[in-house]
Amino acid sequence: MTTTLSSTDLRADILALKKERNAVILAHNYQIAEIQEIADYVGDSLGLAFRAQETDADVIAFCGVHFMAETAKMINPEKTVVLPDANAGCSLEDSCPAEDLGAFLEQNKEKNYYVITYINSSAAVKALSDVICTSGNAVRIVEAAPEDRPILFVPDQNLGAWVSQQTGREMDFWNGNCYVHVEFTRDSIQRIKDEHPDAVTVAHPECTTAVRLLADVVCSTEKMVDFCKETESQNIIVVTEANMLHRLRREVPDKNLIPGPTDNCACAECRYMMMNTMEKLYLCLRDLSPQVQLDETTRERAKAPIMKMLELSK
Ligand code: 13P
Ligand code: SF4
Repeated sequence: MTTTLSSTDLRADILALKKERNAVILAHNYQIAEIQEIADYVGDSLGLAFRAQETDADVIAFCGVHFMAETAKMINPEKTVVLPDANAGCSLEDSCPAEDLGAFLEQNKEKNYYVITYINSSAAVKALSDVICTSGNAVRIVEAAPEDRPILFVPDQNLGAWVSQQTGREMDFWNGNCYVHVEFTRDSIQRIKDEHPDAVTVAHPECTTAVRLLADVVCSTEKMVDFCKETESQNIIVVTEANMLHRLRREVPDKNLIPGPTDNCACAECRYMMMNTMEKLYLCLRDLSPQVQLDETTRERAKAPIMKMLELSK
């Protein structure tokens, strides 16, 4: 279905539909500028999960990727959760099919793993986990893990390696990664640092160890906002998905924010996050479709480790 609305009309129509539906628009920091500007809340995975839990709207229009909208539905099943594009996936989610994790846990039963799962995963994988974490609370979640059980960290090996280093806790890792963040290399980041010798560098923990070692600070997308506000440096190299720069430029307009390049491009975009458009946002609010649907058993099982995470993050 196509519409012929101008961008001004689309904005007005989305706002009118939002009111009519009693909807809230939640958007991740990697959404395109227009979506960030129309959203009621823009944030990282942790902030978005809290907003989804707290909202008194009837409809949540979730502009991010599928697992984020799915998490909102798990936390708040009474709500209608719609998303602009149901095909907006995530390479980390894809790297860990629930059957593979289930088989691995079965084969390693005697280890009695404490499974810490990054929120970038399917509902079925969350349902096999002891606790969920985001990049914003991973250190705290690992610190709260029982001492007498080995940790299996799923599915991001880079976030896992970073949190292991931060906490001093050894763990086993699933072999997954974010296809966007592994595109930054030691050479591509060193080059941009050489071009801006007085800049500080902030990187997402999904980056490889070689890249994280070049950063002054490693943190979640939301903490990047605080870092950019607080640092005394005028020039900041931001090593994460390129749309993050919209959020940062709105909140920190007086600083020079430099997108971290990869070897192939000046800035890295997540093709899944980029699937969402203003037109699709309008259509999902109009049609209440696509909608997140979850089978009740999986939802109940997956909700427990998410609620544990939210409790530990307060
Ligand atoms: P944040 O929770 O830090 O926003 O990260 C989400 C994500 O998908 C990063 O690629
Ligand atoms: Fe997934 Fe990477 Fe896109 Fe984040 S940036 S949604 S981890 S593919």
